[in-house]
Amino acid sequence: MNHNILRLKQNKILRNMCVDINFLQDQLIQPIFISQKVKEPVAITGLDDNYVMNLDDAKKQIEKDIKVNCKNFLLFLVPEKKSLSNFNLDFHYSTIKSLKETFSNNIFLWSDVCLCSLTQHGHCCLYKENESIDLDRTLIELSKISLTYAEAGIDGIAPSDMMDGRTRSIRNILDKNNFNFLPIMSYSTKFSSNFYGPFRDAADSAPKFGNRKQYQLDYRNKNDAIRSSIRCANEGADLLMVKPALYSLDLIENIKNKTNLMVGAYQVSGEYAGLTLSAKEGLMNFNEGLKESWYVIKRSGAQFIISYGSRKAKELNIFG
Ligand code: PBG
Repeated sequence: MNHNILRLKQNKILRNMCVDINFLQDQLIQPIFISQKVKEPVAITGLDDNYVMNLDDAKKQIEKDIKVNCKNFLLFLVPEKKSLSNFNLDFHYSTIKSLKETFSNNIFLWSDVCLCSLTQHGHCCLYKENESIDLDRTLIELSKISLTYAEAGIDGIAPSDMMDGRTRSIRNILDKNNFNFLPIMSYSTKFSSNFYGPFRDAADSAPKFGNRKQYQLDYRNKNDAIRSSIRCANEGADLLMVKPALYSLDLIENIKNKTNLMVGAYQVSGEYAGLTLSAKEGLMNFNEGLKESWYVIKRSGAQFIISYGSRKAKELNIFG
C-alpha cells in the first residue's frame, strides 16, 4: 500500500511543519473609501466591515485597524462634484494631507488614481468630441492628480485607469517634482470584469453609458493580459497587479517571469461579496473561506493581496 501523501497529514504539528506558503500582515492591503458626501458611515452591500465614510469616521476606523496591525491601505476618494474638465482636487488634497498628518509613518497610504469618480460620465478617461478616447488629455489629468496626491503626502500611487502611457507620464511628473522615491503600483493587468459591482456603488463610479471594454482587458485574450503588464513594467512601474485576483491566477507567474517585478493581486469587491453572501446563506464559514482564498492567491505567486478583509487578518490567526 502506498501512503506517501497520507503519511505527513496525520498530525497537526507535522502538517504545520509542512506548510510552504507563508505571508506577512503587511502584504495585505486594506481598501478604504472616503467620501465628501456622507455624514454617517454607509455600509457597502456585500462588503461586510467596509463602509463609505467621511474623514473623521475613517480616522477612527484606521485607529482601530492599526491596533490589529492592519497598516497598509489603498485609498479611494469620492468627491461631491463631478465635471468633465478642470477637476477640483481640494477635497483629495486636504483628505490625504490630514490622514498623513494624523498617522504619519504608522500607516502606508496608497491612493488609487483614476478619473471615473471625477467625471460626469463615470469613465476612466476623457473623450474627444467624436467620442474616441482623448489619451493626451487623460494622461495630463492623471499626472496632475498624481502630483497633487504626492504634494499632499501620499506614500504610493496606484493608477487604475488602464490607459497606455499613464505609468510613464506619472513617473515623469513625479520625478520632475522631486518625488523620485514615490512608488507606483500599477493596476497592470486589469480585466473588464463582472466582479466590480459593489465597488462601483461605493465609489459612485459606474459608467453612465457603455462599458469599459475600450480600455480594460478582454478576459478572452491572454496575450494582451500579459502584454499589458509588460507595458507598465517598461513604463517604470515598481509593482504590478492582476485583477480580479482569483480569476487571474494563471497570469501571475508568467508576468513575474517576463518582467522580474513583483506582482500582487486585487481580490475585488465582487469576489469578496461572493464569499460574504455565500456565508450568509450558510453555505460556508466566512473566515475559513477568506483564509483559503488568500492562501490560494499566495500559492499562485502573488507578492501582496488587496482585500476588503485585510483588517480581519488578526482574527483569522494566520500570522501566529
Ligand atoms: C477604478 C477602480 C475600479 C476598481 C478599482 N479601481 C472599478 C472599475 O474599474 O470599474 C474595482 C475594485 C473592486 O471591485 O473592488 N477604475
